Amino acid sequence: MNVITPHGAASLTPLIATGQRLADLEAESATLPSITVSSAAAANAVMLGAGYFTPLKGYMNRADALSVATDLKTTDDLFWPVPVLNMVERFDGNVGDRIALRDPNVDGAPVIAVMDVTGIECLSDDDMTLMTREVFGTNDPNHPGVATFNAQGQVLLSGPIEVLNYSYFQSDFPSTFRTAMEIRDEIESRGWKRVVAFQTRNPMHRAHEELCRMAMSDLNADGILIHMLLGKLKAGDIPADVRDDSIRTMVDHYFPENTVMVTGYGFDMLYAGPREAVLHAVFRQNAGCTELIVGRDHAGVGDYYGGFDAQTIFDERVPKGALEIDIYRADHTAYSKKLDRVVMMKDAPDHSKEDFVLLSGTAVREMLGQGIAPPPEFSRPEVAKILMDYYQSLDQ
Ligand code: ADX
Repeated sequence: MNVITPHGAASLTPLIATGQRLADLEAESATLPSITVSSAAAANAVMLGAGYFTPLKGYMNRADALSVATDLKTTDDLFWPVPVLNMVERFDGNVGDRIALRDPNVDGAPVIAVMDVTGIECLSDDDMTLMTREVFGTNDPNHPGVATFNAQGQVLLSGPIEVLNYSYFQSDFPSTFRTAMEIRDEIESRGWKRVVAFQTRNPMHRAHEELCRMAMSDLNADGILIHMLLGKLKAGDIPADVRDDSIRTMVDHYFPENTVMVTGYGFDMLYAGPREAVLHAVFRQNAGCTELIVGRDHAGVGDYYGGFDAQTIFDERVPKGALEIDIYRADHTAYSKKLDRVVMMKDAPDHSKEDFVLLSGTAVREMLGQGIAPPPEFSRPEVAKILMDYYQSLDQ
């Protein structure tokens, strides 16, 4: 077996219950006091269940949360870049309680996990400010990740969990949602050794497509894992089913067979830029990948992060040896009119801005909404068609 070792453990530690254990938990959970958790906490449960958050055992307490936020490690010295929390507005129980956590994202709020409450702590406003500043690099309430973080409540429930299901991800995206265990198994059965992960929350345009191709070729990789976020996004971002369709169409048309795995994971977008890039690396290592592509403004939003902060954080905040996965650094990538192909700008030093086909997200959205396909140098026509249909359906 040559698949890369998981983070902080010899093998994955998924918290999903199966078989008789699942049946027992389902029966037990009907008898337990329950609370409905935030979407973020439910998404954390999905990631813990699916092995992506190996070796964590549950939700962090205040000491671990602050330590992770400021020093990127738990109080036990485990490297970890983003606090994994269950914050609620109020909790009427006690330390020692065993409780059922209900999923806010599924009709009827079914139980998603059973938790042993080992800590109940009220986070102060200063704690919240410190965490948002460290994790998101800002306290601006207009930052979508900060807004979501602050809206969850300040009572922190910590403790180990067992997970009963993968929320809506398995039923809504049966051919795309995959656990870290499933991805590792597939990598192994394909006999891939060097596997590049591509994180995405967008439909893939030409730049994205070529980045995957360049990484494959520069690294001499056996395959690429396109790993899309399937959870919640800010308003205006493209829904997962439309992205899934456009990515699969692009891969079917433009990549050789058996070089790409198109998959997704059940997590809400944090928009935490550099910190989220590091989290992305951790859970791609857990999924068995050897490299993660990190390009321009990875996991960014607005102007909150410098274009390549998500790369430099790996030099500045990730101690040597903390992760086994490496990053593949991509410079700003665009179609060169001079060279007639997509290039990284660093590889075209004689070019000026005008030599590239550069379109802002807003301009592309407007074109698509009006039924105008972006130029083929920017978007594959098959992808543009799916996106035009989507944007035009919004106007009806
Ligand atoms: S993200 O929020 O998931 O990072 P997106 O799906 O747009 O957003 O990007 C996926 C990956 O491609 C990220 O690593 C991002 O930095 C990279 N990327 C996207 N567009 C470009 C580009 N034009 N040049 C360089 N890297 C890019």
